[in-house]
Amino acid sequence: MRCKWWLTLSWVLLGLCFFSACAQQQTPVKSETQQWWQDAVFYEIYPRSFADSNNDGVGDLNGIASKLDYLKDLGVDAIWITPCFPSPQVDFGYDVSDYENIDPMYGTLADFDHLAAEAGKRNIHIILDFVVNHTSDQHPWFLDSKSSRTSQHRDWYIWRDGKGPGQPPNNWTSTFGGSAWKFDPTTNQYYYHYFYAAQPDLNWRNPAVQDAMFDVTRWWYKRGVSGFRLDAVDTLFEDPNLTDNPVIPGQKNAYGDPVEKNVYNTKLPEVHDVLRGLRQVADQYHAVLIGETWTHDIAELNRYYGQGNNELQLPMDFLFTTVNKLSPAEFRKQIAAVNSAAGWPTFVISNHDIVRSYDRYGDGVHNDEIAKLMAGLYLTLRGTPILYYGEEIGMKTTPPTRKDEVQDPIGRTGWPKEKGRDGERTPMQWDDSVNAGFSKAKPWLPVPPTYKTHNVADELKDPNSVLSFYKTVLKLRHTNPALSDGNYVPLNENDDDVLSYLRIYNDQAVLVALNTSGAQQQVKFDFSKNGFSSATPLATTGKSSAQGQVVTLDPFGVFIGQLAK
Ligand code: GLC
Repeated sequence: MRCKWWLTLSWVLLGLCFFSACAQQQTPVKSETQQWWQDAVFYEIYPRSFADSNNDGVGDLNGIASKLDYLKDLGVDAIWITPCFPSPQVDFGYDVSDYENIDPMYGTLADFDHLAAEAGKRNIHIILDFVVNHTSDQHPWFLDSKSSRTSQHRDWYIWRDGKGPGQPPNNWTSTFGGSAWKFDPTTNQYYYHYFYAAQPDLNWRNPAVQDAMFDVTRWWYKRGVSGFRLDAVDTLFEDPNLTDNPVIPGQKNAYGDPVEKNVYNTKLPEVHDVLRGLRQVADQYHAVLIGETWTHDIAELNRYYGQGNNELQLPMDFLFTTVNKLSPAEFRKQIAAVNSAAGWPTFVISNHDIVRSYDRYGDGVHNDEIAKLMAGLYLTLRGTPILYYGEEIGMKTTPPTRKDEVQDPIGRTGWPKEKGRDGERTPMQWDDSVNAGFSKAKPWLPVPPTYKTHNVADELKDPNSVLSFYKTVLKLRHTNPALSDGNYVPLNENDDDVLSYLRIYNDQAVLVALNTSGAQQQVKFDFSKNGFSSATPLATTGKSSAQGQVVTLDPFGVFIGQLAK
């Protein structure tokens, strides 16, 4: 009798376990082997422009904290905040004068801790931007370095004698215009700066620099940061012999400088030693390293993953940012390339340095549909997507129209050929109230007129908005294992109008069909080859639909569907 009683209880407990396992299936699915950053959706925040809590016209950390519920609801798992450290703001934070603090314009360390705690409650990771190549010329290390040839930090930067009176050490030009060398009369030597003169390059050949910078990462990991986006990593090392770069004859860039091939001051192999070192530290904290790598091809991208993946987990693949037309063939080529790479892919379509995808792909008539099409693409691929703030509401690039309006110094130096990057950094459009709900004060950059039609509050109410589509696709990505972890299988590879593929995970498959043309398209598939039959919609735009194995797509339409076995 006793025995039977225990047997019954065991069955009941087993049953309960089974039901609770089923209930867990409803929550986001994550395969056992994936790392957190592989299934995560990243979101880049330009803090000046996201949300202004103290109404001084510039966004801040408390502003970001106030929008965490919005980000969670959107489907964001990690936020990358571009530099928020103390800085003279010559390059809007990419000129750091103290790596272990917060610029008062953005708040305090206590505000950072508050943000980290609130983000943690929502399972949102924080990624900071680590400016590794250079500091501000106001950083105490540089102030000491320039003070005398024998100062403690002299060799922390790159100092050289000129070739002769008034002549820099070699022909290298700054990517922001002019010579890459600035003469400093205190010690009668030149220092090297790949970017602005206010951003002197650190000397990474000096072990003391390496130690200090590695310690910076430890300091932030201990404060709850889950990783770094490493800024401009390909510029870390220079040829110690300072060999002149080859010059392309007869060409001038936007700043009027000769066009050089940066053979001797970018992409030197020594960078990989540093990345391996940074990775060893990151691994101790389960952190992720994203790299601004601007790779030209997959061989170069593979070098950044490192031997056995011991360098960057997410070297940013900007290949999509170079496909500036809706071309299935081009996209197929790039997707196949990154899928064959040695590490986990990353997909980026916009950031704070380039024209927004809304303008790069938009045709001026169907821009919202095209924005959804692009979401249907980069959010359903095998890899980690990094969204840029405002992408999800269809924000438009709005460059200054007059030189005296320009904030980004490269826009002032290069005007009118180079208008700078203000256009892609305008304030986030939260609602249709004054200043788009970004701030009660005059924003540091003007709010684009499109805030009346493209803003979070209105788009949340509209089931057909760009934002609603982003939310739908991101929700799918978090709940459908084929979309998060499945293999990528291209379909109908000769179709010039429709880009289509399957994502297959065990016995589940999702079809993604994207019409890159302005005409309606009907596409016939043969899923039986892959062991599947008809498709039922999961997320679509317009009237796009499926009948068995035939999918009909609106102009620029999207069909994402579950395939039956
Ligand atoms: C990176 C940043 C860019 C900055 C530059 C110098 O390219 O993305 O915004 O100006 O580095 O730090």
